[in-house]
Amino acid sequence: MDDTTWTRLLAAARAARAHAHAPYSRFAVGAAVLDEQGRVFAGANAENAAYPQGWCAETAALAAMVSAGGRRVHAAVVVGVAADPVTPCGGCRQRLREFAADDTPVWSADLQQVRARFTLGQLLPASFGPQHLPRDPG
Ligand code: THU
Repeated sequence: MDDTTWTRLLAAARAARAHAHAPYSRFAVGAAVLDEQGRVFAGANAENAAYPQGWCAETAALAAMVSAGGRRVHAAVVVGVAADPVTPCGGCRQRLREFAADDTPVWSADLQQVRARFTLGQLLPASFGPQHLPRDPG
């Protein structure tokens, strides 16, 4: 992945984070994914007064990609501000897994810099994925 693409992803995730709806946790997150057509889709977390109904930034970014016809994630970034680098929650790792491979890069950044670089396989080893299911259930 070239530097320009990472810069686009980071900028999109940071811009989305600025729109996070996080009045309960006060923890704003932005995420962005790069699809197989080179398009960038971003999302922010959106919490809900009925707490479990909130969604994560990564989920929002994936939903935007799928809604636009994207089917593969070639890279992902998550942006949050915390003492430790912000990484995708377990559920979002699995959602990323649906569209990404073990070697897909997933970077964690804050507003200034990249804090940590992972592959999806490092974040979700020995994962369950589409390859486990029969292609023709009929
Ligand atoms: N959150 C995300 O959106 N993505 C992550 O990677 C970690 C957690 C959100 C969920 C919730 O709105 C807030 O951050 C605090 O957990």
